[in-house]
Amino acid sequence: MKIELNRNKVLFNNGESIQEIHPFWLRERVDGEDYLDKGTQQRLFDPSSMNGEVSIEKASINEGFLEIKFNDGVNLKLSIDKIYSELSNKDTVVQSIKKIKWDSSLTNTKSFNFNKNFFESKEMYNLLISFYEYGFVIVKNVPTENNFIVKFANSIGSVRRTNFGEHFNVRSKSDPNDLAYTSLHISPHTDNPYRNPVPCIQLLHCIENEVSGGFSTLVDGYTVTENLKNEDPDAYKILSEVKVRFKFIDKSVVLEDWSELIHLNDDKEFKQVRFSPRLDYVPILEKNKLDLYYKARKKLSDLYNSEKNRIKFRLEPKDLIMMDNYRILHGRTKFNPEEGKRFLQGCYIDFDSTEGKLRHLKRKFDI
Ligand SMILES: [Fe+2]
Repeated sequence: MKIELNRNKVLFNNGESIQEIHPFWLRERVDGEDYLDKGTQQRLFDPSSMNGEVSIEKASINEGFLEIKFNDGVNLKLSIDKIYSELSNKDTVVQSIKKIKWDSSLTNTKSFNFNKNFFESKEMYNLLISFYEYGFVIVKNVPTENNFIVKFANSIGSVRRTNFGEHFNVRSKSDPNDLAYTSLHISPHTDNPYRNPVPCIQLLHCIENEVSGGFSTLVDGYTVTENLKNEDPDAYKILSEVKVRFKFIDKSVVLEDWSELIHLNDDKEFKQVRFSPRLDYVPILEKNKLDLYYKARKKLSDLYNSEKNRIKFRLEPKDLIMMDNYRILHGRTKFNPEEGKRFLQGCYIDFDSTEGKLRHLKRKFDI
């Protein structure tokens, strides 16, 4: 990549072709104190109201900076590195973190220790990198008093409140309205697939655990779907094409959303899984297609429920799991409530919280 000048044109040479950079693209990036607020990095002018036919009167490159004088009398001094990073047109912070596939062979899961200045520390930066690599992290020693989980969430970003409230309590009840509030086994699932948008990240905090069962289970939806793609492309294809309806009903709200069980992005790459087999309804399709769909869903379910794909561990009081609800399926083994208390608290945050925090810490520590 190279920025070159030819008369008063600024050219971008990527080694294969040479393209002119539009003068107005450069004019929009004028960052003198009359044009850009230093604190917020927001423009003090409105380029959308300007005529885009600006031209360059003079251009030079000096010590890593492109210097331009435009025909409207405005000057620009822009770092060449900044232009390069914009031309690559990629999120260089979050998108560059490579997901790591894992299954039951994942041992020694990384854990982080809560401490006083945790949220502004390098430890927090490392935690977020690990979160994007594995889809989950465990933090130990997180205070449990006064719904600290809400404070924890709000110190990364903002709690995503739902109709269940700011946070929810998971303990066995005598008259449960969800299997979570029983002592029964809960198979791997993602939370709230019926919401639009689905909550991105779930925090689950163990407050008390006196029972010998009730192990937490996690499955990497990314690993499972990537493996399915290689091993059974037809199943992968239909599960990533057919949109199904997810629905939740109670006395005050009816929530409904449609999505594929494997949702791909515009580049046909993994974006999100939803799996909650008590809540999904496939539309009526041709019988042959439904045959294929049901076989594929069974296969996916078998993979999600296979011991080969899951990790299982005991949550101790003060342990907090943070998991990507678009990637990780979670569940629980059964326990005997006669043995004692088991009390967890949960809440959600969205990706802008973790992404915003990660970019902030990267800037702060100049990483
Ligand atoms: Fe859940």
